[in-house]
Amino acid sequence: MKIAMIGTGYVGLVSGVCFSDFGHTVVCVDKDPRKIEMLERGEVPIYEPGLDALMAKNVDAGRLSFTLDLPAAIEGAEAVFIAVGTPTRRGDGHADLTYVMAAAEEIAKAAKDYVVIVTKSTVPVGTNRKVRDVVAAANPGLDFDVASNPEFLREGAAIDDFMKPDRVVVGVENDRAAKVMSEIYRPLYLRDFPIVTTDLESAEMIKYAANAFLATKITFINEIAALCEKVGADVKQVSKGMGMDNRIGNKFLHAGPGYGGSCFPKDTKALARIGQEHASPMHITEAVIAVNEDTKRRMIGKLQDLCDGKFNGKTVCVLGVTFKPNTDDMRDAPSLTIVPALVGGGAKVKVCDPQGQHEGEGLLPGVQWHDDPYDAAKGADLLVLLTEWNEFRALDLNRIAQGMSRAVMADLRNIYNANVARDAGFVAYEGVGRIGYV
Ligand SMILES: NC(=O)c1ccc[n+]([C@@H]2O[C@H](COP(=O)([O-])OP(=O)(O)OC[C@H]3O[C@@H](n4cnc5c(N)ncnc54)[C@H](O)[C@@H]3O)[C@@H](O)[C@H]2O)c1
Repeated sequence: MKIAMIGTGYVGLVSGVCFSDFGHTVVCVDKDPRKIEMLERGEVPIYEPGLDALMAKNVDAGRLSFTLDLPAAIEGAEAVFIAVGTPTRRGDGHADLTYVMAAAEEIAKAAKDYVVIVTKSTVPVGTNRKVRDVVAAANPGLDFDVASNPEFLREGAAIDDFMKPDRVVVGVENDRAAKVMSEIYRPLYLRDFPIVTTDLESAEMIKYAANAFLATKITFINEIAALCEKVGADVKQVSKGMGMDNRIGNKFLHAGPGYGGSCFPKDTKALARIGQEHASPMHITEAVIAVNEDTKRRMIGKLQDLCDGKFNGKTVCVLGVTFKPNTDDMRDAPSLTIVPALVGGGAKVKVCDPQGQHEGEGLLPGVQWHDDPYDAAKGADLLVLLTEWNEFRALDLNRIAQGMSRAVMADLRNIYNANVARDAGFVAYEGVGRIGYV
């Protein structure tokens, strides 16, 4: 099959590479010449483990190519995927559909034969129908169908998630489009990964409902963590005890500094907005958004307490600034709230992140970047563990503590614990939702 993928961001590039690995011929399109030049040189513009090798393998096999030329890419394609960004629209929280609609129109103008236009971007309910209207208006004679195929991959584990999904969701209006979609996903179908086929609206809703639910789970445990600190409970033990209940499950129950990333913040806001527009308020999701903001602010208060009430004149070492490990994505990362509060409060901030510097430099002005966590911690009055990269999970804490001016740790991912910190020579330690010492 020939497939065109519009947008080569985290989702479009991973999907395009994986579809080519299924054996399809895939042409990936982007508007950004810098990205296409890099891809043509065999360089991956994002950090995603395993993506470079899989991409090279399929380029070498002649199944995968990159271009700025959308009309050329879709020539002869049986399916064209839209995987462009749907960021939060300024002012009202709605998903900004400008890029999706622009891509739909470009596809319509260039398409000649029957094609299935598949939206992979996360879009509000009703968008696929709007895509259909836009395409029909731009090219009235075109024989086409639309399909909704939301993506559930996680950055940092994207290839595995794409190749071994919990499920694939496909929203279609007729058997003809369903047949094309099942042909595309046949390799997964043959390996017994479930394909859930629905109408367009349900597929669109599944994605928002799933992300809002996961954001709720994280936020719930973060709120429980705040209470644990007050009542003397340990949230790690609480989530372990909760998670063993099969009805609850142990995933997404790790207390931390609040969720961030390219999906949860914008998708929860978009769902809340969809609810408002339909006079069907999403009270739970709205509360989740508010509690998540409180959680990030609570972290700043915690750090301030560990700095005797003020950041001014203190040196703070921050380990990890990407929104989670194994990605270079900084979109809506908690670090974007926490680090500016440190810098704004007058602290000297030293940052170390295995992949975050490239993106982070523009987003976190006024910080010093270090490649080595021990260098970063040298002379610091406070060590903040903000993203749980593997590199920070087995630090020589004795060495870190010895190099610090005042050995104090804020472990916002609960990687270590009070006993371990005390043994290593830390004079104060605080986690999230558990008893520390000052
Ligand atoms: N990032 C994730 O983990 C993730 C997971 C699941 C779903 N999603 C959803 O997938 C969508 C894409 O997310 P992303 O993180 O990959 O976005 P991204 O911002 O990383 O990439 C979008 C790409 O589309 C390109 N683009 C925009 N308009 C174009 C056009 N008309 N023609 C060609 N290229 C165009 C941009 O240049 C950019 O490279 C979003 O709707 C997002 O919510 C993302």
